[in-house]
Amino acid sequence: MGWDSPLIDLFFSNQFLQITTTVPSTSVYGFGEHEHPTFKHNMNFVTYGMYARDQAPTSFANLYGVHPFYMCVEPDANAHGVLLLNSNAQDVTLSPNPSLTFRTIGGILDFYLFMGPTPENVVQQYTEAIGRPHMPAYWALGFQLSRWGYNSLDVLKETVDRMKRYDIPYDVQHYDIDYMERRLDFTYDKVNFAGLPEFIKEMKKNGKHNVLILDPFIAKDEEPGTYRPYELGQEMGVWVNNSDGVTPAVGQAWPPGDCVFPDYSNPRTVEWWTQLCLEFKDVLDYDGIWIDMNEPSNFMRGQIPGCADTEINNPPYIPSISDRSLAEKTLCPDSKTYLGDHYNTHSLFGWSQTEPTFNVVKQATGKRPFVLSRSTFVGSGKHTAHWLGDNFSLWKDLRRSVIGIMEFNLFGIPYIGADICGFNYNTTYELCLRWMQLGSFYPFSRNHNSEGNMEQDPAVFGDEFAKISRATLRIRYSLLPYLYTLFYESHVHGGTVVRSLMHEFTSDPETHGIDTAFLWGSAFMIAPVLDEASTVIKNAITLE
Ligand code: NOJ
Repeated sequence: MGWDSPLIDLFFSNQFLQITTTVPSTSVYGFGEHEHPTFKHNMNFVTYGMYARDQAPTSFANLYGVHPFYMCVEPDANAHGVLLLNSNAQDVTLSPNPSLTFRTIGGILDFYLFMGPTPENVVQQYTEAIGRPHMPAYWALGFQLSRWGYNSLDVLKETVDRMKRYDIPYDVQHYDIDYMERRLDFTYDKVNFAGLPEFIKEMKKNGKHNVLILDPFIAKDEEPGTYRPYELGQEMGVWVNNSDGVTPAVGQAWPPGDCVFPDYSNPRTVEWWTQLCLEFKDVLDYDGIWIDMNEPSNFMRGQIPGCADTEINNPPYIPSISDRSLAEKTLCPDSKTYLGDHYNTHSLFGWSQTEPTFNVVKQATGKRPFVLSRSTFVGSGKHTAHWLGDNFSLWKDLRRSVIGIMEFNLFGIPYIGADICGFNYNTTYELCLRWMQLGSFYPFSRNHNSEGNMEQDPAVFGDEFAKISRATLRIRYSLLPYLYTLFYESHVHGGTVVRSLMHEFTSDPETHGIDTAFLWGSAFMIAPVLDEASTVIKNAITLE
């Protein structure tokens, strides 16, 4: 094992807690959510902040979720894992001694140690404590297509048709916010998406599954009597409140005008959400729900009219997070949720939305539920899938996605993928093709794109591209019984679906830094091409 704290720099004060431990080696993995440049951490005085944030993957930035968990491989090849169960804004510094310094601005120093001795044992023990990953439906392991900005049902139909024409394996269609009327939850655009209910029924008849996006902000400025989600929520008192605990926090996000934020930690909110999701099922016959922006995102620094200058909003120490602000792009820390001050519960927002959504999808569909959440916390894997967020159509992002999917397997969220072909920026033929090849082996395999970018579905680039995508996806499909079995194992015994080579060949230190290839279970290795204009991978296996 190896957790040895000299206690010499232990701080235990109201808004600042710090502890340092030595670790037995520099083979340290985990901590999230970040876009790490390597899977095995650089320990040369590197600091990572953790605080849920609507933030496109950028080196060293705190991203959508919080996972204060790491695994360390000791010199004798035994592995152990450590969780700091704490939801406050925090950071960790990795130093070359080697040691780790944890700093958090609230809660307690609640550490859990998982003794391994193998990496797989560590993850099994970790998920025994935090909740085993849910068992995805078989269809959810098929290829999935999405984009923000089809902008009309006609364009979506053309896309679906060409997927069929090129015979590309494809099981799930996602519907991003452009299906909504003016980006209002629980509506659909009756002009540009006229006929959407019938289209979804038709898709279902053809064996496809349909996933709808919902955002955690509810427009408050619609004409009285026209927008039930707001009016029912008002009546039931389901919103996050200002510091007075009674007036709803008002911010701005996708919907027109101002909006309020459902407080999913409140049982009344769960009732409200359940009712609306059940009713919406009668309008659009969804098979799964994608919960986005649940950090929660707010396009301002704190709610209207800004945050008061108090200790809770401006604590003496702000961890190493973007903008060094607890309120930027979200709500003020002194906002009130049912569970307590937003200061303490902020990073639990997405987590608290996930279980109720899982339960309502189960109730609505009568089937094993599909939920895809952007913000996650310790234990989220029990109820949700995750994707790595708003990546860029860049070779760097292709490469780093391998690290991200391996990390989320350590976090107990094995149903994980990145937006294939990249979300932000226009993709290129070559990058997108390489990404289809790698993404065919993400546990959650979805091509997704941002508004305004060129189309990038695998049927849009012509014969050759389609042929290669089809062939690679067919390899995936031929292995689905194996992948499904791995998910079953993970659901029942914990553990990973995707693993690093270190995970299986722990006693060989050469494997500790490998993050350009990965394994499905113990029996199948994927070594993708990750570089532009290359047909050779690092270990010189020629592909032609
Ligand atoms: C942000 C999400 O990360 C992205 O995937 C989605 O397309 C946009 N929101 C629009 O809903």
